[in-house]
Amino acid sequence: MKKGKLLVKGASEVVTCSGFQAKKGKEMQDLKVIPNGSVVIEDGIIKAVGPTEEILKQYDESQYEVIDATGKAVLPGFVDSHTHLVFGGYRAEEFSWRLQGQNYMEIMEKGGGIVSSVRSTKAASHDELYKVGMKRLDSMLSFGVTTVEGKSGYGLDLETEIKQLEVTNKVNEDHPVDVVPTFLGAHAVPPEYKGREDEFIDYMTNDVLPVVAERKLAEFCDIFCEKKVFSVEQSRRHLSKAKELGFKIKIHADEIVQLGGAELAAELGAVSADHLLQASDKGVADMAEKNVVATLLPGTAFSLKEDFARGRYMIDQGCAVALATDLNPGSCFTESIPLIFSLATLYMKMTTEETITAITINGAAAVDRADTIGSIDIGKKADMIMLEFPSYHYIPYHIGVSTVEKVIKNGVLVFD
Ligand code: NIG
Ligand code: FE
Repeated sequence: MKKGKLLVKGASEVVTCSGFQAKKGKEMQDLKVIPNGSVVIEDGIIKAVGPTEEILKQYDESQYEVIDATGKAVLPGFVDSHTHLVFGGYRAEEFSWRLQGQNYMEIMEKGGGIVSSVRSTKAASHDELYKVGMKRLDSMLSFGVTTVEGKSGYGLDLETEIKQLEVTNKVNEDHPVDVVPTFLGAHAVPPEYKGREDEFIDYMTNDVLPVVAERKLAEFCDIFCEKKVFSVEQSRRHLSKAKELGFKIKIHADEIVQLGGAELAAELGAVSADHLLQASDKGVADMAEKNVVATLLPGTAFSLKEDFARGRYMIDQGCAVALATDLNPGSCFTESIPLIFSLATLYMKMTTEETITAITINGAAAVDRADTIGSIDIGKKADMIMLEFPSYHYIPYHIGVSTVEKVIKNGVLVFD
């Protein structure tokens, strides 16, 4: 009788983040909190949510497995909407070089950076990549992440890009955390194509993209649109073909130089544009108008000692802002959600409420899943976290430490 039936009972507050699409501008402040609330789950789906008294009148608790949430806050699972989850090897030496004053682009230009991870990812077996991918997902789950986006981009050739995407799809199948796969074949110019960037884009667009589409290995297509990497014109060409083939679009935009990536994202109807440290006022306005989610990655700015993206300005201009870790072996080797909370609230002038919206419903919108995850709403997947504290205000307050005590994924307790 109790199979698949779960009652999360008597939470001091249920922070619903209620909504079925990205929250823009001022809407980000409203978390729709139910004090003393409960959630009814059946077959992995949220069946009811409301004040405990009302829920217990309508549902017979003896029919349910009960999780006692007395004195604890319950929220939607976090959505980490930008990560480079599957990669081989590490680049610890580059971190020390950066501490000594070298910058990210200098290291990249002398053959380090992304292409160094490409060498290690080519050398890694399917099984090795699978093991590190699963381990990273375990760590993310412990921080309350129930859905994560994972990009390829450490292959830069057909065989290795496919290997990375196959592993991404396999960890999605085997791990409780859902993984949304993104093809990022145009992540860097491999050494053999130096000076022939257009040819490399032709290769990725004509020879690799159609195979990824045909084999349904990715849902999104992304590109690193940046000075000395891929131009706006090359990005437009590659992403337009991706759209034709049915991919949804993301762009690594205006990270280091103001190039017009935000404007391109709006022009192409991208689901999100990410980084945006240097995005222009016009780019921000275009994104707000065209409902492109602005995915900000403060861990990367922190790690590279850059100024943070203008989160406050973007929200005030009516953008939907999401926050994500950008976990990767170079510019930001962290999957820490507590770090993101600290940086957003203490350094980006975002409120705790806006930060939570950015990592729940807006993160879901950034992976085009706001209709099924990202909030505690009837009919959505029962992806939820329970804190060890009575209020969401403890999340950024407990600096650098996870406040997550339990994680429920698809209605099943998967972290306790
Ligand atoms: O999002 N900016 C480009 N790509 C990654 C970094 C990847 C790497 O350094 O390995 C990013 O920061
Ligand atoms: Fe990235």
